[in-house]
Amino acid sequence: MADRPGIDTLTEQQAAAELAELARLIARANEAYHTKDAPEISDADYDALKVRNAAIEGRFPHLKRPDSPSEQVGAPPAQGFTQVRHKVRMLSLSNAFAPEDITEFDARIRRYLGLSSDAPLAFTAEPKIDGVSLSLRYEGGELVQAATRGDGSVGENVTANARTISDIPARIDNAPEVLEVRGEVYMAHADFAALNERQAQRGEKPFANPRNAAAGSLRQLDPRITAERPLRFFAYAWGELSKPLADTQTGALKRLAGFGFAVNPLTELCDGPDAMLVHYARIEQMRAELGYDIDGVVYKIDDLGLQARLGFRSSTPRWAIAHKFPAETAWTRLVAIDIQVGRTGALSPVARLHPVTVGGVVVSNATLHNEDYIAGRDASGNPIRGGKDIREGDWVQVYRAGDVIPKVADVDLSRRPEGAQPYVFPTTCPECGSDAIREEGDSVRSCTGGLICPAQAVEKLRHFVSRAAFDIEGLGARQVEQLYRDGWVREPADIFTLRERYGPGRPTQLKNREGWGEKSANNIFEAIDERRKIPLARLIFSLGIRHVGEVAAADLARHFGTWQALVAAVDTAAPAAECHLQADAAEAAERQAAAQEGRRARIKPARDAVWEGLTPEARAAWDDLTGIDGIGATVAVALVTSFRQEAERASIDRLVEHLEVEPDEGRQVTDSPVAGKTVVFTGTLERMTRAEAKARAEALGARVSGSVSAKTDLVVAGPGAGSKEKKARELGVEIIDEDGWFELVGTP
Ligand code: IVH
Repeated sequence: MADRPGIDTLTEQQAAAELAELARLIARANEAYHTKDAPEISDADYDALKVRNAAIEGRFPHLKRPDSPSEQVGAPPAQGFTQVRHKVRMLSLSNAFAPEDITEFDARIRRYLGLSSDAPLAFTAEPKIDGVSLSLRYEGGELVQAATRGDGSVGENVTANARTISDIPARIDNAPEVLEVRGEVYMAHADFAALNERQAQRGEKPFANPRNAAAGSLRQLDPRITAERPLRFFAYAWGELSKPLADTQTGALKRLAGFGFAVNPLTELCDGPDAMLVHYARIEQMRAELGYDIDGVVYKIDDLGLQARLGFRSSTPRWAIAHKFPAETAWTRLVAIDIQVGRTGALSPVARLHPVTVGGVVVSNATLHNEDYIAGRDASGNPIRGGKDIREGDWVQVYRAGDVIPKVADVDLSRRPEGAQPYVFPTTCPECGSDAIREEGDSVRSCTGGLICPAQAVEKLRHFVSRAAFDIEGLGARQVEQLYRDGWVREPADIFTLRERYGPGRPTQLKNREGWGEKSANNIFEAIDERRKIPLARLIFSLGIRHVGEVAAADLARHFGTWQALVAAVDTAAPAAECHLQADAAEAAERQAAAQEGRRARIKPARDAVWEGLTPEARAAWDDLTGIDGIGATVAVALVTSFRQEAERASIDRLVEHLEVEPDEGRQVTDSPVAGKTVVFTGTLERMTRAEAKARAEALGARVSGSVSAKTDLVVAGPGAGSKEKKARELGVEIIDEDGWFELVGTP
């Protein structure tokens, strides 16, 4: 520092040059310290650089750089860990709460596999550890990588940290060449208490619960800190394997234990739901004495061959379920009811609560679902909570079930404040003032403002840039919200003209906005360009159409293949969607008339009358659309409604003009005999159930449809196939039987 000129003597040009140099030096020091964990300069020198930078900025405020080090508080870079793409996705589990959910789980699996109710079917039952999941990759017996779950597909590389955990062997003998061991990192109660005591002694914030402590410790950028934290690990699953571990779940766990992993000692083999529930009760009873947190019991099909047949839904296996312990609850005061407007216009009531701790987490909001829920009734008008309504000022019992949003379980009427009034649900949108209407049979009241409603527009944009949608790096919910408020981005298409409007050489530039700089602006422009090419399923999901989630979007993409085909089909089916809605209305009217006249309602004729006069093309397009497995009339109506709404359609069209939409080629599976083909299963199938047939066909890259049309490539017909087989014959579509199907695709 000594050889630098005094601030007062600096010319503007010298000041600008020095600020640039200081920004570079400080950024380099930051990187050395935080990312490489190898500081290059002393703390004192680092501070001196920052002081000088601030002093120059103080004298020449207009020269302050967009990447000024004074704006960066020396925090570690957000991207501290490198990313790891999991070879086999890390999935979550679907949840069950009641004993009936477990009998249904067993029944569902039997239906799927076509097993009778008395065929033997064994399950493992083991505690569900409340920690952080971790995947450990061993190659040639050496631990080569440890990764967190992340979003299931991409996690963080925490190898150095995992190596510090004593339950995790660095080397294992006699293991398959490639072995990914999966399990849970957790912290025992005693260790957690001691850690929090140390934190308090050092004047640092205590952790809210052992899970947070485990997660925080595992994600330390400095592995020396992880090493000081008493983390443990239970192995319960696996990812990529070069050779199977065993034929059964229990056998595989034994192998893992043989490699030196801790496997939970409360794992038991059960012969059905009764035994599973007995073991659940036993584990629940032992819960307080276990010495570590668990939040339920996980049941898994023991036979790994059956696990393979059952496979996965979009993010959970069909062969496992988590039976959660009852949620913790707490009483608190409901201060106010607010209405939030979602991307589809749904008005969602939210309870603002006096903050209260539930299961180690402070809760200050809870969902109230819809107006019926507040009024104390369900969608069919039956009482819930004994018919008690919820009012502002009430004492309410709140609970958290897993990670889901807190809910209100009960209301204490004895503590209801005098003069508390029933809640009046708004009939206009609190954001834009448009009418908020509730369709027949719908529990949700929705704003009719469409894109003129700022809340809907912002929510649509937030959805558009979310991870499963366009996922534009650096352009998250916060950024689009800001850009919307300032009028720079009003709809998704505007994102793709940002560079044209606010890029280099334009009178107003993104890089000059607060919180942005040249580098971040350029990065965004590039990240946006990268997404101009987008897979069809992602595009469909990104539009944020009601009822069209990731799974429906994927089903639609697989069925139609291209954006043009989808649009043409929805447009052609539009008049039929209208008929469908009218048929619902006609049915309701007929039921009412019949009740009044004291006769039986004639529903079918009432519904059918509405469809007369519809063109055969519209009817066929509607049948094709609603015939796609997983897509029913609700999704079809939502698609038509969205595409027919003029402003929304124009906005979608403007967006698509900027994109190159990648066609869906049947899940990119190309080496299967049915890849890209449209298959219809009809009649009785004997060697597999309908659900299994569909899942297998889709896994092989086929589209499965419920109705036969000229687009059908193959019909698999079992005994009793009727009109569909006939139609296939008329259209000259190839027809095979179930054995033919297995000959074609092989057995799993
Ligand atoms: S099996 C394919 N078994 O719970 C499914 N998960 O809610 C693999 N968990 O992400 C998971 N204890 O982090 C399994 N005994 C156990 C578990 C367990 C805790 C966690 C795991 C998973 C989450 C799902």
